[in-house]
Amino acid sequence: MTALAAAGASKAPGAAEFVPDTGDLSALRTASGDCRGCDLYRHATQTVFGEGPADAAVVLVGEQPGDQEDQQGHPFVGPAGQLLDRALADAGLDRDTLYLTNAVKHFKFVERGKRRIHKTPGRTEIVACSAWMSAELALIKPKLVVCLGAIAAQAVIDRSFKVSEQRGQVVSLPDYRAIATVHPSAVLRAPDRAEAYAAFVEDLKQVRAEMRKRTAR
Ligand code: URA
Ligand code: SF4
Repeated sequence: MTALAAAGASKAPGAAEFVPDTGDLSALRTASGDCRGCDLYRHATQTVFGEGPADAAVVLVGEQPGDQEDQQGHPFVGPAGQLLDRALADAGLDRDTLYLTNAVKHFKFVERGKRRIHKTPGRTEIVACSAWMSAELALIKPKLVVCLGAIAAQAVIDRSFKVSEQRGQVVSLPDYRAIATVHPSAVLRAPDRAEAYAAFVEDLKQVRAEMRKRTAR
C-alpha cells in the first residue's frame, strides 16, 4: 500500500456518502442507521436521528445522544431531555411542534467500570456528521434553529461562536435564523442550578417571541 493509500484508508469518509440524494426524513433516518462516516458507530448502540414534525418552524440542535438516548434510539429522552422538556413547557413552547436533533448522531463515551461517561465530540466527528444535519435542515426548512450548547452553535453558526457571550441573540444565516443557548446538561451541572435554569428558560422565551413575531400578521 502506498503512503497516500494508507492515509486515505485511515481517513474517515464523513457522512456525505451515506446520505441519500432523494427521499424524505424517514428515508434519511433509515439510511443514517448504516452510517460509517466516522468511528463513533463502532462502539455506540445505534444512530440516534432527529425526531419531530417534517414541517417544524423551529429545529433544536443538541450535541450528541447521551447514554439513555443511545440505548433507546431517541433524542433527548435522558436527564438532559427531561430538563429540556420542563424548560420548554415553562417557556410556553410545545415540544411536539419542534424538531429535535443532534450535531453528532452517535454517542461518544469512555468506559469507567460499568458506566459510560459522555465524551465531547471532536472537530473531526462534528464535520463528518454535519451532512446529516444539513440534509435534515434542507428538508425541514425551519425559520429558526436553536443551538443547545457550544458544539451545536459551532456546527450550525460558526466555529468561533461563544455561547457565553452571544446567547439569546438572533443570528441571520442564509437559509434560516439561529439562536444559541446553553446545553440542558450544563444547567444540570451548574453550581446554582435554579439561576441557570431561569436563564435557560429566558433564552427559550426569546425563541417563542421570535416565532410569534414571524407568524404575527
Ligand atoms: N444531549 C444532547 O445533546 N442530545 C441528546 O439527545 C441528549 C442529550
Ligand atoms: Fe455517521 Fe455521524 Fe455516526 Fe459518525 S457520528 S458514524 S458521521 S452518523
